Amino acid sequence: MSSSDSLYSRLGGYDGISAVVDDLIPRLIEDEQLGRFWAHRGDDGLQREKQLLVDFLCHASGGPMYYTGRSMTLAHRGMRISESDWDRFVSHVQSTLAAFEVSTDERADVLAFIASTKDEIVEAE
Ligand code: HEM
Repeated sequence: MSSSDSLYSRLGGYDGISAVVDDLIPRLIEDEQLGRFWAHRGDDGLQREKQLLVDFLCHASGGPMYYTGRSMTLAHRGMRISESDWDRFVSHVQSTLAAFEVSTDERADVLAFIASTKDEIVEAE
């Protein structure tokens, strides 16, 4: 594995990214401030959302998947996700990356990608 490989490969491909998302989602749902975004959602709705997140991340990191979900703007518009919500989300991503012992370069690339979506997602103070 070299630094010229896609981020998708460096994260362990589909299985690696899927495992990361499996770890991340419960952290988000159990967060006392963020949990409200997922309150009263059925199991299948959560499963579908998890799959879309896996597909989105695989696609964006250079994997062969086609992302069939909505744009980040459309999917989150109206939720009034705040800066403080955002900071908590990012800290959970950091915990997940630490739990998987993802190395420094890959961590930085993942966090930079997440940061690039912020303006499409955060809409309230
Ligand atoms: C505080 C931050 C965030 C919160 C509270 C949040 C919350 C949510 C919720 C509740 C949904 C389900 C929407 C629905 O079913 O109508 C959703 C969908 C989604 N989110 Fe987020 N999200 C956040 C950040 C992000 C980030 C950073 C990414 C990607 C890097 C992301 C990717 C997605 C994707 C791919 C979907 C599925 C889109 C679709 O249904 O077509 N989200 N998000």
